[in-house]
Amino acid sequence: MKLQQVELRYGSRKILSGLDTEIRPGEFIFLIGASGSGKTSFIRSLVGELAPTSGTVIDNEWRDLYSLNSRELSQYRRKIGVVFQDFKLLESKTVKENVVFAMEVSGYPDAMIRKRLPEVLTEVGLLSKKEALVQTLSGGEAQRIGIARALIHDPEIIIGDEPTGNLDPDNAREIMTIFNRLHREGRTIIISTHDSQLVDSMKKRVIEFGSGKIIRDETPGTYAN
Ligand SMILES: Nc1ncnc2c1ncn2[C@@H]1O[C@H](COP(=O)(O)OP(=O)(O)OP(=O)(O)O)[C@@H](O)[C@H]1O
Ligand SMILES: [Mg+2]
Repeated sequence: MKLQQVELRYGSRKILSGLDTEIRPGEFIFLIGASGSGKTSFIRSLVGELAPTSGTVIDNEWRDLYSLNSRELSQYRRKIGVVFQDFKLLESKTVKENVVFAMEVSGYPDAMIRKRLPEVLTEVGLLSKKEALVQTLSGGEAQRIGIARALIHDPEIIIGDEPTGNLDPDNAREIMTIFNRLHREGRTIIISTHDSQLVDSMKKRVIEFGSGKIIRDETPGTYAN
């Protein structure tokens, strides 16, 4: 993916400008910066949800993301799995029901769901808990359901918008172990976070936002300058 002189606005309000960067297949990147610095907006521009007011976002097939038709855009989005801070789960349902629900929403036929369900639950270590109610799970287990749902389409790219933001340090580490493994399997990982210890311990590429732009891009990087 490539951003060329991208500017992002909400209405007339400029959020980020001069974004000129490349995300190569197989990279592991942390997005950091103060609250309101534009991390989520940057993610939305990558996912095809926030059109730049100037500049271009180019996908791995050299297409301008915001010139794709709706069919091409939904195919593009299937290559990206997004994990959120709040797990967005159906609390009174089981682990299995939550993943199946996401597959049904995506229009998967029953046969495909039966095949894919155990695969994604195994990837996040939740197969043995598939009948457990969400409300009985730890925060880390709940977030593993979030990751399982992001894996449904076997995406090339996984984006986490503060995926460990609601977790204690132990659960956060457990979730990062899963992201690490997904990275070793060859996927591109992009994670926004405020967790300095996490960033410092992993020694990955760090892109820092501030003052309406990218103020630092280092590989490997640390949380503080
Ligand atoms: N839908 C929206 N409409 C208008 N302004 C918005 C919208 N979403 C975000 N903003 C504003 O854009 C700026 C960047 O927000 P963004 O959510 O990208 O920051 P962030 O770095 O993700 O912050 P946080 O660490 O709190 O998640 C903020 O000033 C925010 O108030
Ligand atoms: Mg955010």
